[in-house]
Amino acid sequence: MGKRVLTAVQCSGKLHIGNVMSVVSPTLELSNGDSNEVFIFLADLHSLTTVKDPKILDEYRRNAAVVWLSLGLDTDKVVFYRQSKVRGICELTWILNCLTPFPMLANAHAFKDKSSNLSNVNVGLFDYPVLMAADILIVGAEYIPVGKDQLQHIEITRDIATFYNNRYGNMFTLPQALINSNLEIIPGIDGRKMSKSYGNTIDIFVAENELKKTIMSIKTDSKSIDEPKDPENCTLFKIYSAVADKEDVESLRGRYVNGGISYKETKDMLYETIVTKFGEARKKYDDLIKNRDFIDRIFVDGERKVQDIVDCKLSEIKGAVML
Ligand code: TRP
Repeated sequence: MGKRVLTAVQCSGKLHIGNVMSVVSPTLELSNGDSNEVFIFLADLHSLTTVKDPKILDEYRRNAAVVWLSLGLDTDKVVFYRQSKVRGICELTWILNCLTPFPMLANAHAFKDKSSNLSNVNVGLFDYPVLMAADILIVGAEYIPVGKDQLQHIEITRDIATFYNNRYGNMFTLPQALINSNLEIIPGIDGRKMSKSYGNTIDIFVAENELKKTIMSIKTDSKSIDEPKDPENCTLFKIYSAVADKEDVESLRGRYVNGGISYKETKDMLYETIVTKFGEARKKYDDLIKNRDFIDRIFVDGERKVQDIVDCKLSEIKGAVML
């Protein structure tokens, strides 16, 4: 039976290969065929916690829209929308705020990581998980494809839904995270977690020479061609594993362990894999990104559809609270 599936990406930077492999491609796969109802949105309200320049916010949101479309999002099959255009998500966030224990948010990893310097933390950043709970619960989504770093947010959503259900009666389905389990967290080019905030990402939609330059700058040790290499401790190998086909990964593993391949050759292979696998998407991206009107129009249907669902659900939710 079909399931209601929902996901989003924050537009706080251009989408990178980690976002593509962990969230974009797996969600698009779930939208192929007719059985699932799939909701995908651009989390621009979440982005506002970190992006304050209006032009940049707009640019990142457009980039995210075009990445999804280039990789095959079909608006006939997916309800595709911008979070900020849907009335009611923020209203539900407030209701859920009033049920959320302060320590639950204070203990969330994403907040804790930043809490050493509280004067730089805005309230939106603190409340981030509750807005995410509202996104999910207002649509009644059952499955949430996300990267591993979002697991705690899904747990918090389940907890908040349970608080509401216990107090006001069963309203919310408890969502489940869908994690792409063959995918380890993809490291960035410097070996740390790939993250916009570290500036260590690989953007697969840039011009060929820029893509090549990024790949050539992936950090490795200085082992020579003949020396055996350790695939488990190699950033380059891990990034290759995330994009290449299984057999190619296994064949590279053999060449690493036995010696006989240079990092330069491996980087060339990674580059070739990316331009081959994403060749068509890269062409589409270049065409679409110039077409601002088309991108603005693409959301009209999705925003209408989701608004109907939200209006209906929010009136039930408010009714139960007596608002
Ligand atoms: N926090 C997610 C990210 O950083 C984006 C997001 C916002 C999201 N709301 C969501 C993901 C609801 C899944 C469901 O990528």
